[in-house]
Amino acid sequence: METERKTQAATEQTADRDLSEQIKKVTKESHVRAENTELMLSFQRGQVTLPQYKLLLCSLYEIYKALEEELSRNSNHAGVAPIYFPSELARLESIEKDLEYFYGTNWREKIVVPAATKRYCHRLRQIGKEYPEFLVAHAYTRYLGDLSGGQVLGRIAQKSMGLKSSEGLSFFAFPGVSSPNLFKQLYRSRMNSVELTEEQRNGVLEEAVRAFEFNIQVFDDIEKLLDVTENKLQKILTFKSGEAKTLHVPLIRMVLGLFLALATVSVGFYAL
Ligand code: HEM
Repeated sequence: METERKTQAATEQTADRDLSEQIKKVTKESHVRAENTELMLSFQRGQVTLPQYKLLLCSLYEIYKALEEELSRNSNHAGVAPIYFPSELARLESIEKDLEYFYGTNWREKIVVPAATKRYCHRLRQIGKEYPEFLVAHAYTRYLGDLSGGQVLGRIAQKSMGLKSSEGLSFFAFPGVSSPNLFKQLYRSRMNSVELTEEQRNGVLEEAVRAFEFNIQVFDDIEKLLDVTENKLQKILTFKSGEAKTLHVPLIRMVLGLFLALATVSVGFYAL
């Protein structure tokens, strides 16, 4: 009985020391906040729109480009090698396919990303150069998220946007992963095998919270971008529908005045 209790206590202690458990614990509150951003709520309510999804894809493109380039450059680093699974996880090519589907072959010229995405990518590049052992925090946040809630979000997105096939939704598909749950178990065990000093471990945990924060800021900025675009459109539509006549009467008067003056001068020249 005593031996059993001791074994259980020892197992619990080891689990407490597991990076995968610690990281899940410290990011729990951030995960709830990420789930409750306007953008993620639109997904969950089955109301995600094409403009929302297209802007999200643009940001994901920049984020995965930075993340995957840094992972690849550091693939032999002791803190990266165990969690480096490019053939199972890499997202960049699938995002490129989706962007081409929505924006056409010249999609590269049409990418629009908010400031938060640039800050996120800048951080990814920085840690890739200075602290490669922190990359695991970002890889965990994105890839394990994509393999968890992300799987449901893909199906919802298809319905919400009325897409007939899975075209435009390659981002959500992981053809190299036959069981997301089994793969997540393998990934967690690889995370736990990374040897880290106490200082590095704390750094990784802090970085994971930061990674969620970056994602939240990207989602919020995307919503702001959409608001601005919608407001602009609203103004143009208002202008066209006539309400703006009252708003822009002085401008219209000025243009008419100028036109009349020009017409008078032209008639004057003609008469001469
Ligand atoms: C609509 C929004 C979201 C929903 C509904 C959702 C849902 C879920 C669910 C059901 C799990 C599995 C939990 C478990 O196995 O214990 C999960 C795990 C996870 N999610 Fe999310 N999620 C959402 C957004 C996000 C976002 C935006 C991120 C990060 C950017 C994220 C990152 C993660 C991570 C890293 C895990 C793995 C946790 C672990 O096992 O350690 N999720 N999510």
